[in-house]
Amino acid sequence: MSKYPPINPKLPHLIHGADYNPDQWLDRPDILIEDLRLMKQAGCNAMSLGIFSWVTLEPREGEFDFSWLDRIMDGLAESGIFVILATPTAAKPAWLAQKYPEVLRVTADRRRKLQGLRHNHCYTAPAYRERAGIINTKLAGRYGNHPALLMWHISNEYGGECHCQLCQEAFRTWLRRKYDDSLDRLNQAWWTVFWSHTYTQWEQIESPSPIGESLLHGLTIDWKRFVTDQTIDFLRAELAPLREITPNVPVTTNFMGTYPGLNYWKFVDELDVISWDSYPCWHSKGETKDCGHPADEQGRDWRVAADTAFSHSIMRCLKGGRPFMLMESTPSVSNWHPVQKLKRPGMNRLSSFLAVAHGSDTVQYFQWRKSRGSSEKLHGAVVDHTGSENTRIFREVARIGSDLKKLDALVGTTVPAETAIVYDWENRWAIDEAMGPVYRRNKKYEQTCKNHHYPLWALGIPVDVISMDCDFSSYKLVIAPMLYMVREGVAERLETFVEQGGTLVCTYWSGIVDQNDLCFLGGFPGPLRMLLGIWAEEIDALYPQEHNALIMEPVNELGLTGEYELRDFCEILHAETAMVLARYRGDFYRSKPVLTVNGFGKGRAYYLAARVEERFLQDFYASLTGALSLKRALAADLPEGASAQVRSDGSKDYIFLLNFTQAPQTIDLGERIFNEMLTGKELTGRIDLEPFDVKVIT
Ligand code: GLA
Ligand code: ZN
Repeated sequence: MSKYPPINPKLPHLIHGADYNPDQWLDRPDILIEDLRLMKQAGCNAMSLGIFSWVTLEPREGEFDFSWLDRIMDGLAESGIFVILATPTAAKPAWLAQKYPEVLRVTADRRRKLQGLRHNHCYTAPAYRERAGIINTKLAGRYGNHPALLMWHISNEYGGECHCQLCQEAFRTWLRRKYDDSLDRLNQAWWTVFWSHTYTQWEQIESPSPIGESLLHGLTIDWKRFVTDQTIDFLRAELAPLREITPNVPVTTNFMGTYPGLNYWKFVDELDVISWDSYPCWHSKGETKDCGHPADEQGRDWRVAADTAFSHSIMRCLKGGRPFMLMESTPSVSNWHPVQKLKRPGMNRLSSFLAVAHGSDTVQYFQWRKSRGSSEKLHGAVVDHTGSENTRIFREVARIGSDLKKLDALVGTTVPAETAIVYDWENRWAIDEAMGPVYRRNKKYEQTCKNHHYPLWALGIPVDVISMDCDFSSYKLVIAPMLYMVREGVAERLETFVEQGGTLVCTYWSGIVDQNDLCFLGGFPGPLRMLLGIWAEEIDALYPQEHNALIMEPVNELGLTGEYELRDFCEILHAETAMVLARYRGDFYRSKPVLTVNGFGKGRAYYLAARVEERFLQDFYASLTGALSLKRALAADLPEGASAQVRSDGSKDYIFLLNFTQAPQTIDLGERIFNEMLTGKELTGRIDLEPFDVKVIT
């Protein structure tokens, strides 16, 4: 392992900045001048500019005004601040929708939307692509050689889908290509004979809809694949002029973590750098449950941190370990959180360092200055309506700015992971669609992956988060919870991994369907049956108030004893070649195996047949990672809520100590002497971490 180059050699430092919207303040030159002073004071070195500026750049079709952007870019350059310049396509001017109504998005229930909001355009419509191409070409031509230009920020948070006629046609073309022009093959793959849904002409195929077809899983999953591909096709169209005119300027587009609508793995070849927008619900309580962002019902910020780290690690792994960008985070509140809890003093700094600890080379915020009007005027920002630097939020941002300046050595370093968790978008789609073993309830695939991640994270064991198509060979431990869909070749690759000495952990509801969502015949877990040495004959679903238990066998290689509570799902197993490590306590499947291990070549494959309480996962992974001698960021006992994470350049480790509790925590560093990079002090023995504090030691 060695270091990756900086995002752009023009700026070989960690990046600190924010979304900057000067187009909202063009009638206030005093504020624009003040912005530059405040940015320098906050230690900002790069600002994201122009994200929603289309109408200010092109007030009427074909009529362009770049004078304001020239002034802003020049001012930033003179102040030594770089620009991450956006293509403005995430929101369109009214004139565009008026003249080309076909660019307006059509919803799944086949209603065309009106102009308004953002992200409401069709990714297929030639008119939109053409207008986007023109403005992007102009931006590239005008600013390609500007000294401030650091990189391109393509659009903003691509997402959603369009069901217009143009998209229907593109979908059919996509299907024809996928199924070699054969409707027979498509009908076979989608099992359309069920309910007499067999298609006899391509024109009969429509995207999934609440007023049409919504239960043909093969169609739904292919539609989601198409939406990803069509979004990428639009991205390529956006990129074409930029790649041509500015081949050396890196590009990114900001992702949304585990956003279910797009399979981010398919984007990576188009992008130079991965970036994402992270909005965890810190200090949350019950109300934020299911808001789609990390939250904890009991207000345990370290659980929010672990779940956020899971997404950070996906972003790092998308480009094989290359540092990513934390493109957006809020310095205080997010105005769309159900309850807008202020970030407690230190939390912005701590959550920023959480990202850096997991491989981010940047700390960036949404937004630089609070808007005066419209829906985001109450969203957190570096500069409040009060306009001065004398705020708690600004001071904390400035402190982060000065911290980051001391961490040049981190640029390009990555996280040395020996463990990987498989979190796979297509698998998620298939699980979410499936009508079993519970109906219209969240089967919690994502949370299950995060629950397996948490104990490792808490031990300070670095974890990669990958898709089932990634290379497993560099890992010692691969964990693939709920691997419901097993695409072609995956089982074989997992077999090779274990054969050569790897350890695999699988759970209930694995190996059920293939990539077309067709069930495997001949016994679950389908192609994983040999490797795991088991047959999963049936799966039982439990009501929320019901539970069972897993009883460890008196002698088992994990050294675990006693009982652990089971809930939600219990599979009834037959151990074929596998050894039984634990059995069910109750119900008609009492004494049947619930935890097994199968020796396969030089490695071992574990199978956990039921959803089990967290305490088990903690004990299980403590035992397993100990037996495998997996490296930890710090060989020390960590109090609950304190975390140690590591980045490395291959020879030198940079260890982050993070306290996610509101109380001081003590960590014993032992006899080694460390250098703390933020204070320059030497540390050894027992050290105190203040509430929400962070230290970076080498
Ligand atoms: C998203 C968008 C931003 C802004 C923030 C608010 O991440 O990219 O433009 O709306 O949310 O949290
Ligand atoms: Zn469309």
